[in-house]
Amino acid sequence: MIITFATQKGGTGKTTLAIAFANYISTISKRKLNVFDFDFQKSFYHKWKEDEALNLPKLYEVEIIEEEVEQPFSDFETIIGLKESEDINLFDLAGTLDEKYIDLLIYSDFIIIPFEYSDVSAKSTLVFVNLMGQLESQAERIFIRSKYDKGYKYLNQEGMDSEIVKYGILLKNPVFKRNCLQTISTRELTKHQKYAVKNSLDELINCINGSLEISL
Ligand SMILES: Nc1ncnc2c1ncn2[C@@H]1O[C@H](COP(=O)(O)OP(=O)(O)OP(=O)(O)O)[C@@H](O)[C@H]1O
Ligand SMILES: [Mg+2]
Repeated sequence: MIITFATQKGGTGKTTLAIAFANYISTISKRKLNVFDFDFQKSFYHKWKEDEALNLPKLYEVEIIEEEVEQPFSDFETIIGLKESEDINLFDLAGTLDEKYIDLLIYSDFIIIPFEYSDVSAKSTLVFVNLMGQLESQAERIFIRSKYDKGYKYLNQEGMDSEIVKYGILLKNPVFKRNCLQTISTRELTKHQKYAVKNSLDELINCINGSLEISL
């Protein structure tokens, strides 16, 4: 299967959430996890490389998809192979959409979309889901409130939520704004980090299991 973390807005927590998901799933699932960093900044990959210094065992391998390749999935065999595989193939994308992402966005089983309630983020999120509609992507879209501040009253929350549920599933459990998530590593989730993401990730995993009628 293919699970892609994407949105049209930079800095919403895609990579942080993708790392948290990868770490979490690799400790609870028997499936092989393959991570593909498809962002020109290669944040996931660089972090994974840097984390070698921690001397903790690798939980998974991370591959980069080279920038020079304009259409990395022009041979559909590759992408269909990833989609039909029993492995969990996780992609982390950049915060700017690019033509080279089109095939992946179409063939992903799930697109995980972290979003915030700032006006800019709200607009970009809706632009992104509109584009997904235009691509006729069959991927299930799962929205996660990211960097959510419990004590803050987001004025546009109600309006945005009612828009979002037209385009996909909105998880009940937000990922709260937490300092401990700023120092996430690709080798482990600390107790605090696990506590910070567990409810959202369990809900996400249930959602994936239910939709594919599998157990991750
Ligand atoms: N839940 C959170 N609580 C606190 N800080 C967070 C949280 N999630 C992400 N951050 C911080 O926000 C910043 C952006 O996060 P991240 O790099 O994961 O976003 P991104 O969407 O992958 O960005 P880009 O679009 O550049 O790839 C980072 O400094 C990260 O540590
Ligand atoms: Mg990123």
